Amino acid sequence: MNQIPQDTIDQIRDSSEILDVVSDYVELRRRGRNYFGLCPFHPEKTPSFSVAPDKQIYHCFGCGAGGNAISFLMEYEKISFIDSLKTLSERYGVELNLNRDEGSDKFFSQLYEVHNQAVSFFKNNLESVGGKKILEYLKSRGLDSNTIESFDIGYAGDGWDHLLSVIRAKKISQDVIEKCGLFTKTDKGVFDRFRNRLMFPITNRGDRVVGFGGRDMSGQNDAKYLNSPETPIYNKREILYGLSRTLSESRDKRTFIVVEGYMDFLQLYQNGIKNVVATSGTALTSAQVSQLRKFADTVYVCYDGDLAGRKATVAAGYSLMRGGLNAKIVIVPEGIDPDSWVKESGVNDFKQGQKEATDLITFHFENTLLDTTDPTQKSRLANEIATELATINDDIIRRELIRQVAQKLSVDEMAIIRIIESKGRRIKKKQVVNLKNDSSPSSFSKAEEEIVKLLISSNVEVIELLKENVDTTVFSDPVMKALAEYLMRSDSSNGDTNVSGAVDLFEDKHEREIASRLLLDAVEIEDPYHVAIDCLITMEKQPLKEKIDQERIRLREMEKSGKDTAGTISSVMKLREELSQLEIKRESLLKSLK
Ligand code: CTP
Ligand code: MN
Repeated sequence: MNQIPQDTIDQIRDSSEILDVVSDYVELRRRGRNYFGLCPFHPEKTPSFSVAPDKQIYHCFGCGAGGNAISFLMEYEKISFIDSLKTLSERYGVELNLNRDEGSDKFFSQLYEVHNQAVSFFKNNLESVGGKKILEYLKSRGLDSNTIESFDIGYAGDGWDHLLSVIRAKKISQDVIEKCGLFTKTDKGVFDRFRNRLMFPITNRGDRVVGFGGRDMSGQNDAKYLNSPETPIYNKREILYGLSRTLSESRDKRTFIVVEGYMDFLQLYQNGIKNVVATSGTALTSAQVSQLRKFADTVYVCYDGDLAGRKATVAAGYSLMRGGLNAKIVIVPEGIDPDSWVKESGVNDFKQGQKEATDLITFHFENTLLDTTDPTQKSRLANEIATELATINDDIIRRELIRQVAQKLSVDEMAIIRIIESKGRRIKKKQVVNLKNDSSPSSFSKAEEEIVKLLISSNVEVIELLKENVDTTVFSDPVMKALAEYLMRSDSSNGDTNVSGAVDLFEDKHEREIASRLLLDAVEIEDPYHVAIDCLITMEKQPLKEKIDQERIRLREMEKSGKDTAGTISSVMKLREELSQLEIKRESLLKSLK
């Protein structure tokens, strides 16, 4: 059997997007943060099959099926683990060195090859005599050779078949030529799609080139930018320009800055701001948001300082919030974009702007054309915002936004909640996880589950607290134990990527289903520090309680047979004392929070 290295498996899993994989087979509709559809694994009439893009897992609440992208394909297509990896690696452009001889392997490897050839060809053009003016243009826009080289920027010359003849000479199949997006086919033949354009290669998460953005250099063309069309390797809904280069820095900072243009991205990057991605001018899609959510908790939206940019900012902000990310808005001065801002005023002005970023609701209020002193317009704005808030599934995020809106409009929070409810969302009453004073055996297993849920939350401090204090050897449920150990071992700054990896721990289908259910169910817990402390104390109490129970049984037996029980009684007293010490410990841990 082929032994695939673990990091290749990890890379394939992390590059895959569960939502597109499942969408090929199941019609999904979004409800809040997750997507629902009819389960492909059992007959049903109402959807109980759900997919969590932020966690990259699926679970059916009807039949219990569950897992990640790899296991979905295995179960749906009835294929092996290796074949599933193979399919995903092709789709997401991750190199998997098995014996590649099938037709489809060749097709995909040629698609990548065409792009690599094109990158070198465009770079050569830029370095040639004819590219001199273009290079000067790039320099005049403030890009240095290092940036130009490192992002493989090139130039497509003014001809109809320059790239085509290079590619033909490489014996690339006609099918690939027609489907790679670099050529256009008309009834007169096949031609280079990009002519007289500055070329920005677009990479996927595996850092392989899958498409291009081309900026017109003639000044004659109506479209300033022309991009590759959607192809078998270029999924526009999902790709973010520059992500493959900036994800590790962003993961460390747990933040991203999202800009609109290639030049905005490059200018910021060159100036040392390396947690940035560009949407390339399109609206921020939910698939892009779920990519971002794998690495960050907060996203700064930094779009152009014009009307279109501000409108797009509001939409992007709500998209981010819907995806469970905290959106902040960097206000770019009127009439310029982040590129010219940094170029003209220096990177420190930008950094200051980022520090002064506003929250989404404030930004929305400041950029509405409605007059909030007029009651009818005020009500229209309330409705406009409530429509957005109704689609936000996360209770905590939604409640916070409701509070802000109510305050800004100086109306009661209930008024906003009523509008949201009229739009079809039921607001749940505050859910309290109560473990305290609960001595049933299930409080222990509840604590095990809560600990796992907390470990996949985004609260880094809570995760650290748990890592320091949880003793997994006392866990009784093997699935929870394996999950907790895995999550505690993994890098907590790594965020959601861990979650779908955790599913791979279980070869047993039933165990995998238990795991996927728990992981999918896990939402951010309110007051996580408090819950974590309760769980820790519950776990510590458990062995003491068991001992006390044993001592009690012994005591009863000793009483029956008339033995001296004084020693046993005092040992029970001691154990009880230890229990109450734990209560004191809980109180003092909680106090240390305040
Ligand atoms: N864009 C596009 N097609 C267009 C216009 C824009 O795909 N016809 C995308 C490009 O990715 C571009 C981004 O939207 O980078 C932002 O557009 P715009 O602000 O108009 O371009 P700039 O990046 O500011 O272009 P430049 O600075 O080169 O003039
Ligand atoms: Mn711009």
